[in-house]
Amino acid sequence: VIEKNVDPETMLLPYLRKKLRLTGTKYGCGGGGCGACTVMISRYNPITNRIRHHPANACLIPICSLYGTAVTTVEGIGSTHTRIHPVQERIAKCHGTQCGFCTPGMVMSIYTLLRNHPEPTLDQLTDALGGNLCRCTGYRPIIDACKTFCETSGCCQSKENGVCCLDQGINGLPEFEEGSKTSPKLFAEEEFLPLDPTQELIFPPELMIMAEKQPQRTRVFGSERMMWFSPVTLKELLEFKFKYPQAPVIMGNTSVGPQVKFKGVFHPVIISPDRIEELSVVNHTHNGLTLGAGLSLAQVKDILADVVQKLPEEKTQTYHALLKHLGTLAGSQIRNMASLGGHIISRHPDSDLNPILAVGNCTLNLLSKGKWCSVFLHVPLNCFFQLEFVSAFRQAQRQENALAIVNSGMRVFFGEGHGIIRELSISYGGVGPATICAKNSCQKLIGRHWNEEMLDTACRLVLEEVSLSGSAPGGKVEFKRTLIISFLFKFYLEVSQILKKMDPVHYPSLADKYESALEDLHSKHHCSTLKYQHMGPKQHPEDPIGHPIMHLSGVKHATGEAIYCDDMPPVDQELFLTFVTSSRAHAKIMSIDLSEALSMPGVVDVITAEHLSDVNSFCFFTEAEEFLATDKVFCVGQLVCAVLADSEVQAKRAAKQVKIVYQDLEPLILTIEEAIQHNSFFEPERKLEYGNVDEAFKVVDQILEGEIHMGGQEHFYMETQSMLVVPKGEDQEMDVYVSTQFPKYIQDIVASTLKLPANKVMCHVKRVGGAFGGKAFKTGVFAAVTAFAANKHGRAVRCVLERGEDMLITGGRHPYLGKYKAGFMNDGRILALDMEHYSNAGNSLDESLLVIEMGLLKMDNAYKFPNLRCRGWACRTNLPSNTAFRGFGFPQAGLITESCIMEVAAKCGLSPEKVRMINMYKEIDQTPYKQEINAKNLIQCWRECMAVSSYSLRKAAVEKFNAENYWKKKGLAMVPLKYPVGLGSRAAGQAAALVHIYLDGSVLVTHGGIEMGQGVHTKMIQVVSRELGMPISNVHLRGTSTETVPNANVSGGSVVADLNGLAVKDACQTLLKRLKPIISKNPKGTWKDWNSVSSRGYESDINWEKGEGHPFEYFVYGAACSEVEIDCLTGDHKVIEMLLTVDCIEGAFIQGMGLYTIEELNYSPQGVLHTRGPDQYKIPAICDTPTEFHISLLPPSENSNTLYSSKGLGESGVFLGCSVFFAIHDAVSAARRERGLHGPLSLNSPLTPEKIRMACEDKFTKMIPRDEPGSCVPWNVPI
Ligand SMILES: Cc1cc2nc3c(=O)[nH]c(=O)nc-3n(C[C@H](O)[C@H](O)[C@H](O)COP(=O)(O)OP(=O)(O)OC[C@H]3O[C@@H](n4cnc5c(N)ncnc54)[C@H](O)[C@@H]3O)c2cc1C
Ligand code: FES
Ligand code: FES
Repeated sequence: VIEKNVDPETMLLPYLRKKLRLTGTKYGCGGGGCGACTVMISRYNPITNRIRHHPANACLIPICSLYGTAVTTVEGIGSTHTRIHPVQERIAKCHGTQCGFCTPGMVMSIYTLLRNHPEPTLDQLTDALGGNLCRCTGYRPIIDACKTFCETSGCCQSKENGVCCLDQGINGLPEFEEGSKTSPKLFAEEEFLPLDPTQELIFPPELMIMAEKQPQRTRVFGSERMMWFSPVTLKELLEFKFKYPQAPVIMGNTSVGPQVKFKGVFHPVIISPDRIEELSVVNHTHNGLTLGAGLSLAQVKDILADVVQKLPEEKTQTYHALLKHLGTLAGSQIRNMASLGGHIISRHPDSDLNPILAVGNCTLNLLSKGKWCSVFLHVPLNCFFQLEFVSAFRQAQRQENALAIVNSGMRVFFGEGHGIIRELSISYGGVGPATICAKNSCQKLIGRHWNEEMLDTACRLVLEEVSLSGSAPGGKVEFKRTLIISFLFKFYLEVSQILKKMDPVHYPSLADKYESALEDLHSKHHCSTLKYQHMGPKQHPEDPIGHPIMHLSGVKHATGEAIYCDDMPPVDQELFLTFVTSSRAHAKIMSIDLSEALSMPGVVDVITAEHLSDVNSFCFFTEAEEFLATDKVFCVGQLVCAVLADSEVQAKRAAKQVKIVYQDLEPLILTIEEAIQHNSFFEPERKLEYGNVDEAFKVVDQILEGEIHMGGQEHFYMETQSMLVVPKGEDQEMDVYVSTQFPKYIQDIVASTLKLPANKVMCHVKRVGGAFGGKAFKTGVFAAVTAFAANKHGRAVRCVLERGEDMLITGGRHPYLGKYKAGFMNDGRILALDMEHYSNAGNSLDESLLVIEMGLLKMDNAYKFPNLRCRGWACRTNLPSNTAFRGFGFPQAGLITESCIMEVAAKCGLSPEKVRMINMYKEIDQTPYKQEINAKNLIQCWRECMAVSSYSLRKAAVEKFNAENYWKKKGLAMVPLKYPVGLGSRAAGQAAALVHIYLDGSVLVTHGGIEMGQGVHTKMIQVVSRELGMPISNVHLRGTSTETVPNANVSGGSVVADLNGLAVKDACQTLLKRLKPIISKNPKGTWKDWNSVSSRGYESDINWEKGEGHPFEYFVYGAACSEVEIDCLTGDHKVIEMLLTVDCIEGAFIQGMGLYTIEELNYSPQGVLHTRGPDQYKIPAICDTPTEFHISLLPPSENSNTLYSSKGLGESGVFLGCSVFFAIHDAVSAARRERGLHGPLSLNSPLTPEKIRMACEDKFTKMIPRDEPGSCVPWNVPI
């Protein structure tokens, strides 16, 4: 590519997508945190004649830095038009794609690794994917695809008995009854294209020649706003720096880039010295290593890894410490982009390397001409013969690719004196504005013996010196204080252990129980099995039903050819719309000044509530929702106005110039407790009552009261809210291309806003890059305003939210407060239960009441409570309005019930599993709303899970482990599941489909369901294939549109395939019936006619007055057993093994695991969401997949009303993630018991490292200073 007008402000991602129209590379976050934009960068070095390939995040690469480099995107490695690459083929065929939005990034990360290592280990592969997030698959199928590139399967080589875990015998899952065979394999490896490194693209020869022949000279690029200088010698670099002292020296742009993007920092001049050879120097000297500041962190990692292989361990302690942190620092893309110099100089408060470099006596050599520049870093070798130890510690919200909450580097030097400290250095990250050295404390400890008294003094000194205010940014203050000394204790143990080994006479021995404190929790070993049922021998071989068929868009996902909303090419004269949102949680708008914004170049209009006037709201439920704020705002992130400009960049720049003056209003209600205090609820209260609760309380042995709080969850669909509205210019027709789960609603809201009948507004959805409930009602407001703008100007308007905007504006899963009063017998039988559910609904109603209702209807989970009263309230608060989210109230309601069970078990002195079993539904039974159920499968799942997990043996092993280890504890929990499937109302249980049979025999099918990763289109094609008895290749599906299928319901609630499948089936059967006479006359003839329309619905409803009804069509059952290990000193946890016997998919399970453990939303006391991107909000990454993950899908149900006895699966799995929560609870309880704390333990969700650590109370948690309530304004409030 030759680009004549390079704008230094342009990043590679928009350049690829908008300029070159290469839309395979996706936007997911814009800040290097999600990996959706991964590309391969290849650079040729004419001096060494070597080509370096590395993965990189296109969203952070300025195109100016790419002069002479080759960029390979997903389109470059294979396509359906030519030949697909083995990586693309395998990720698709191994079912590693669902919505497919993350897939191109995954493909490029694996591809780049294979370019460098054609036969990688599984560790290398999972490491390469550490920076790629996927919200759908749960990673297991992606790991399966990776394994096919490994020499060894990478599975369970390390298993004690040496038998492969894929062997049916060892995973112990029994065959299903009815003689059908089960299979752990979902793909045929032998059919895969071979990986042939000789067939890969070569580095472009013209770039090689250019690099060799072109004289090395300074390059300058410029635009009206910015200059970019790329010097080639150190001298020039210094001169530029002298001339432009404020200009940043950009290497990886991973520090400067996010500041520019998210904090609005602007640099008129950039200096980019990445071609200066000296900056990449590597010098091995007799006393250490000199590294050029320009080396990437990945290169530094490789260099250090090489050195530690060659030198004795005791000499390379600092290198080992650096390597430890380089293994988890960011993802592979960032490590390959970020430079050593950039890392050091950017002085991030949570830098992982700086604390180690600081204690390791490393020297930074600086060159200067007026303003200095870093050039080399010298990392010395350790002189172990004189007893020197270096260690590094860190704890983050997620094990990998997450900034540390606290990290530390520590070094002690004893010299010849027996255990007398000669030098001591301790540095911390995450506890101040930059790396903090505990200098004074270390100074005071010199001359002290390495013993417990020294440790005690050290802890007190360090806590005093590294003091952290109660309002410190990032919050978690008490946790951080605890980590500061917990790390110190770990270091103490580590050094003591080595000293003891070296000189058992002089040094005290370490209790065996303490040793595990030093062991690593994390294992990269991944083993998984999936057992499902093969179809019976009677099934026709071409019948696709029941076969694990690849997602029909799988290959297109993997090649980047699958088109998402923002991949659509621009329409002539298209405008971009961006929203201006409220910065106050509850305030009166005093004035809005648009003048400056309107005067900005490219700006066409700013739409306000005044423009929308009488169409500024829409009522779907009982309360109308306002689109743009009129005179008041009720949450931070509320839409105030919308800027319309020729381009996205211009719209965003102008949006920053809109000036809004507010006057704060009282009260400010953020939490559920505050809402209760102010009586701030949405009407009406919902109640479910069964039996006689008050009477039952009189006869029970014991009564307990408790409560649990559960935080919300961000949908984090990988594709943000996106739409393109195109006025057709004729008859007021409007086409809306949108990423939504509910096209009919979009059609209605747009039609109402434009005062048009629905037949003028057509809504089209090709596919959605993940939704999980967040693209139903939320999308409507954006679509309404965008359509209004398009209509007003008669031009197409595109609106695509940035990740931060999306997270700020759209709300998510409702936080819950559950209060319970349980009356039970001493044998664990719960006879009376009185519950209260409070949800934090935010500032508008949305689906909150439905969520409360579903929570109530599903709160019984697998249990029969003979006397039950459960009431629910949706609290109105000054937060963004919360909405539907996979599971729809059940993950919250279920957790409250299970917590109550845990507490009952503790009070009775019984195991939670026993109490669960005692209270479980027994075969034919009745729910609290008087719907009949047959719980046979529930009991079967529970028993099977118990047997297959060898629960009793495992429990005994966990107890033994816990008795032998003081600082590490294991926990085990098994949770049952009864998930009612259905949307709770008859109206919602409808579906329609349209099937065309063309004269050439090809079939086009459309239905009302949305393809958002669940593979519904694939399933519908399977249905057509079976019903019409034709191969899948004959059937096509173009997408969903209100034009072909009207009035379709929202896609959600795990019923999309069931409902639409029945409609497709009916349509096919109707066609067949009509064609039967013709077909029978000429059985070998061709299809001749088309037919349409069928609808079929569930019969379900509930009467809330009576609290009775038949709200659900059927129930799915399951059970999950999780085993975890926790580190009591840091709060870290690892899921060791996970076993599901269920009708659910692991993607939902992993999402649930995230919900209950690491996904934490943080709001400021003023109601501002802090967590607005993948850097602050952690969804599970590949490192979080359980070490062992076994899933057994039960045989098809006997439910005659569902499609081919299918089961709705998507939603239920989320709840089973709470088995991890309770396993951690179990481990924490074990730790507390050992520390003499026997009282009831109430833990809130998510069970983050902070909560785990602080619950494992010990001498360190007692030692830290605590802030008096009200003595400081905390950084965040628990919502
Ligand atoms: C998604 C993401 C995840 C991350 N995760 C982690 C993590 O887990 N742990 C962690 O420690 N860090 C993490 N980081 C931070 C990362 O380590 C730093 O951003 C990176 O090391 C900075 O290097 P750079 O080359 O990209 O710096 P740039 O952004 O290019 O520059 C940063 C600063 O350094 C200066 N500078 C650069 N080179 C020189 C030089 N040679 N001489 C003088 N000044 C120079 C520049 O002037 C600028 O001010 C993460 C960053 C991102 C984006
Ligand atoms: S879009 Fe680049 S990493 Fe997320
Ligand atoms: S398939 Fe990975 S995000 Fe959807």
